[in-house]
Amino acid sequence: MKMLVLSDIHANWPALDAVSRAEGSWDELTFCGDAVDYGPHPVECVRWLQANARHAIRGNHDNALATSQDCHCMGPYRPYSLATRAWHRTLLGADDVEYLRHLFAVDLFEWCGAHFRVGHATPAGGLFEYVSPDAWEDLVAGLAADFVLLGHTHVQGCGRSGGRRS
Ligand SMILES: [Fe+2]
Repeated sequence: MKMLVLSDIHANWPALDAVSRAEGSWDELTFCGDAVDYGPHPVECVRWLQANARHAIRGNHDNALATSQDCHCMGPYRPYSLATRAWHRTLLGADDVEYLRHLFAVDLFEWCGAHFRVGHATPAGGLFEYVSPDAWEDLVAGLAADFVLLGHTHVQGCGRSGGRRS
């Protein structure tokens, strides 16, 4: 059984399409947030996720687009984020925005006998923090999950902590 885990697509349809084609097929798909802002194809990405991701949670950029709250991104990314968000609002339909608005900040589910916990920035459902690898051990300690899946940092990685994979 194969789970495809995706995160921080940021409206990059060519990349999402390439990953989808490269993977070919999967049994379960989990999305760790941030479908929108930055890239030019929010409609394609949001609708693909709606059709394909059984488990999807809300990222800080999804939250900002759907609720008009601040995304809390900083530095040179901030003006780019604000500009593309305003543009994305003109491209996405009301149903697309509602889809993003109704995504949970945390998803808990069982798959193939294992317990999964999915968040964007933190396992507790935080949308904005950037978790350093040093803090990971404390962050996942005590969680009733075999796998903890997060996005947000744009850094791919995998680790093991007390029998828990992340
Ligand atoms: Fe994010």
